[in-house]
Amino acid sequence: MIKSIIMAAGKGTRMKSDTPKVLHTIFDKTLLGYVLDAVNGTNMTDENYVIIGHQSERVEEYLKNTYPDAKPVLQSPQLGTGHAVSMVLPYLENYNGNILILNGDIPLITSESLKEFVDFHSSSGADLTIMSAIFEDPAGLGRVIRKSDGSLDAIVEEKDADPAQKAVKEINAGCYCLNWEKLKHAFSDLKTDNAQGEYYLTDIVKWANKNGLKAGVYTLKNNEEIFGINSKSQLAEAAKLMNNRSLQKHLANGVEIIDPATTWISPETEIGHDTVIYPSCYINGKNKIGSHCKIGPFAHLRGDVVLEDYVKIGNFVEVKKTTIKSHTNACHLTYLGDSEIGSNVNIGAGTITANYNPLTKVKSKTVIKDNAKIGSNSVLVAPVTVEEGANIGAVGVITKNIPAWALAITRAPLRVLENWVKKNC
Ligand code: UD1
Ligand code: CA
Repeated sequence: MIKSIIMAAGKGTRMKSDTPKVLHTIFDKTLLGYVLDAVNGTNMTDENYVIIGHQSERVEEYLKNTYPDAKPVLQSPQLGTGHAVSMVLPYLENYNGNILILNGDIPLITSESLKEFVDFHSSSGADLTIMSAIFEDPAGLGRVIRKSDGSLDAIVEEKDADPAQKAVKEINAGCYCLNWEKLKHAFSDLKTDNAQGEYYLTDIVKWANKNGLKAGVYTLKNNEEIFGINSKSQLAEAAKLMNNRSLQKHLANGVEIIDPATTWISPETEIGHDTVIYPSCYINGKNKIGSHCKIGPFAHLRGDVVLEDYVKIGNFVEVKKTTIKSHTNACHLTYLGDSEIGSNVNIGAGTITANYNPLTKVKSKTVIKDNAKIGSNSVLVAPVTVEEGANIGAVGVITKNIPAWALAITRAPLRVLENWVKKNC
C-alpha cells in the first residue's frame, strides 16, 4: 500500500468564481471528488492527504461530508506546489514507501492509468517518476526537458522557458510518484528563484538528478485524462470530454443513443441494453436504468432514479429520487420526485408529485402501486399512497391515500349552459 497527496489549495484565480476551483462540479460531482475517486479506485493507497488552503473551511467541510477518510492538511499561505507537498512532511516522518502526488484539478484521470503509472514506477526502479503527455498545443504547461540520451533532465514551467524549451511538446501532466524516504529531503532545498516566485514541485526533478537519484518518465497514452481545469471554458470542455466518454461506454454496452451531440449522461448512470435515449436528454447523478426503456426526447433525470426494464419516460418529464417498476409509462410533461412507482402504471400527461412543502421545508414520499392509472393533470400531494389498481380521474388533487381499485375524482362536474354565449354577449 502507498499514500497519496492531492494538491487542492490553490485559489483558481482564472475561474473568476466565489467557489474554490476544486469544488466546481461536472455532473454534480466536484473536480476533487473525481480525483479522489480515481485514487481510491486503484485500491493502492491506504491514506490520501488533501492539501487545502484557499477557502479551506469549505473544502474541509466538503471532505468531511463526502470523503471522511481523506486527510485534509492546511497550506497557508499558498506558496506553490512544492510548498504544498512539504505540508505533509510532519505526518510522514517515518514513512519509507512510495507517494503518489496529483494536481486536484484533473477530473478526467482514471484509476487504470494511475495504477499503470504506479506499477511502472515500481518496476522501473526509479526514485522519482513523472507523468508526461504529448500536446500539439502545450501552451501554459510545464515542459519535459530530456537529456541527449533521452533520460529526464528537468521540468521547466512555461514562464521560465526559453524559446527552444517552449517548442517542446512533451508536457508535465501534474502526477508524480516518488520514493518518499529519498525525495522528502528535496523540499528543504527548493528555491523561489523563478518567474512566479513560487516553490515549484517540478524542481524535485533537478534535485533528484543532482543527488544521483534515478528520475524517469511515464508517458500517458490518452492525453485527455490529464486535461487540467484553470478556467470556466476548460470546465465546460472537460464536461464535454467526460460526457463523451460516458456516451461511448453506453453505446458499447448496447444502449441506443439517437443523437450523442445533444445527450448528456453522467458517468455514474448505468443503462441496460436496447434502451433508447432520444435527443436532448440530461441524465445527471447516479441512476440505474434497465433494458428496453425509452427515455426522452427532452427528459431530465436528476439522480437516484431507478427504472426497471420497459419503462417509458417521455418528453418534458423530470424524475428525481424515484423508483419505477417495469412497463410503467410517464410519457408527457410530468414531475416525479421522491416516489416509488409500481409496474404497469400509467402516469397521465401533466401529473405532478407535490413532494415539497415550502412552509415546513419537508419533502415527503408518493407511493403508487402496481396497475394504478393517474389521470392527466393530477397533483399527488405527498405523503400519499395510491394503492394497487386505483384510478385517479383527470385533474385529481389527491391529498389522502386512495384504496385499491377505487376511482378518485376531485374535479367539479361539467356544466353545459345551452346558448349562454348568445344570451349574454
Ligand atoms: C502545474 C505544474 C506544471 C504542469 C501543470 C499540469 C508546477 C509548478 N507546475 O502547473 O508543470 O504542466 O500543473 O496541469 O507544479 N496548489 C496548491 N498550493 C499551491 C499552489 C497550487 O495546493 O500553493 C494546487 C492547485 O490547487 C492545483 C495544483 O496545485 O490543484 C496545480 O496548481 P496550478 O496553479 O493549477 O499549477 P499549473 O500552473 O497548472
Ligand atoms: Ca493547473
